[in-house]
Amino acid sequence: MSNSSLALIIPAAGSGARLGSEVPKPYLEIAGKTILEHTLSRFTTISGLREVVVSTSPQYVDSTGYILKTLFEGLKTTVVVGGVERQHSIRNALNSLSEDVQFVAVHDAVRPFIDPDSIQKCFEAAIKAGGAIIAVSAKDTIKISDGSKQIVRTPNRKNLWQAQTPQIFKTDLLRQAYRKAEQDNFLGTDDASLLEYLGEKVLLVEGNRENFKITYPLDLKFAEWLLTSDMKQDIK
Ligand code: CTP
Ligand code: MG
Repeated sequence: MSNSSLALIIPAAGSGARLGSEVPKPYLEIAGKTILEHTLSRFTTISGLREVVVSTSPQYVDSTGYILKTLFEGLKTTVVVGGVERQHSIRNALNSLSEDVQFVAVHDAVRPFIDPDSIQKCFEAAIKAGGAIIAVSAKDTIKISDGSKQIVRTPNRKNLWQAQTPQIFKTDLLRQAYRKAEQDNFLGTDDASLLEYLGEKVLLVEGNRENFKITYPLDLKFAEWLLTSDMKQDIK
């Protein structure tokens, strides 16, 4: 256990185009709770957690504030309005963060199956290395294409990892990375890529496959099954 302080940023402002539901993904209910609540409840026992910021759409600001107050009694909680891209939503959250918190964890609102042990492992790796992310080894062979479905090459699968969240960084490094990305109009699909762009090293911490991101209708079906089935303990 460390004495370092941690803030949690949860981007929850997406529209969920690939899922195609009317209600945005984080606010869909499974087993009587929103996906966002399932996700947040995985963080309530993390030692060092000091502050939680959620980025969301304007119409969900009030209900999200209420969820945060209920789950994180005694912690500083904030809701901000997100932006067009995930990166903008996280930038807005970073801008509202207290100055003195040492580390920041970014975790997607739609990964409700992260286990607290993985969060803690990732936090400890970030304390040692400055930045660490949860990832799993690539299951399929991955092809690089030229953009028109012509295969260009096939990287060795043993070096390929699927980046998940949480992604945890020293706060000043993450702030620097976001500033540089904004200056250069660099848009990444995760936070580690902004640190890589800055020239910083980020460690991979092996997580588990249960921590998938609810993206397509099949993912939602699977999440519903996991959250309502007794067999969920057996899935790894
Ligand atoms: N997100 C966000 N702001 C955006 C886009 C995404 O805060 N402008 C959040 C989503 O709410 C989600 C997380 O980032 O919790 C991961 O993004 P993703 O799974 O891509 O969600 P959406 O962008 O909502 O889905 P899609 O890409 O299918 O539209
Ligand atoms: Mg998206």
